[in-house]
Amino acid sequence: MTKEAIGTVLITEEQIREKAAEIGKQISEDYAGKEIILVGILRGAVPWMAEIMKRITLDMTIDFMAVSSYGAATKSSGVVKINKDLETDIEGKDLIIVEDIVDSGVTLNYLEGYLKSRGAASVKLCSLLDKPEGRRVDIKADYVGFTVDDRFIVGYGLDYAQKYRNLPYITWLESE
Ligand code: IMP
Ligand code: MG
Repeated sequence: MTKEAIGTVLITEEQIREKAAEIGKQISEDYAGKEIILVGILRGAVPWMAEIMKRITLDMTIDFMAVSSYGAATKSSGVVKINKDLETDIEGKDLIIVEDIVDSGVTLNYLEGYLKSRGAASVKLCSLLDKPEGRRVDIKADYVGFTVDDRFIVGYGLDYAQKYRNLPYITWLESE
């Protein structure tokens, strides 16, 4: 049986808040005079979404999607399934997808295409974390909080078997 243990604090709540303020300001400048929709990807993006949205000074609304990717955890098939779709009409709208982490990039790559096919005027990506070493498709988030090494991250929305999302900081999982 595998027993997991968490590492030490990698990124503090304070650092995340400061970063959210920076990115929120940047988004507010980049979209000045426009109205945007933040699309949060359930469930991992929830705490990060809450930080970001409070720092945006534009007219904006939020909506959520839930997705899952098929295939074994170690080798994603690249097929993404939508478990919960948007409730907002996104035709002609400027969207920012808010994610917890970009790893292989499969999820965001799929979502970007999907939202554009639904008629969004523009789709940008905002992720709390970026794990570049995991990348399998060529995708780059427009707004990134922090870059992390290729290890399994938990906390601040990120889970292992649905646990640890409530940690108020970012850490990693150590298995023994
Ligand atoms: P991607 O499609 O491979 O980029 O994976 C995106 C999703 O995989 C994220 O939204 C997370 O739910 C999950 N994921 C990837 N890496 C990690 C990690 O280190 N910890 C927790 N979840 C992860
Ligand atoms: Mg996720």
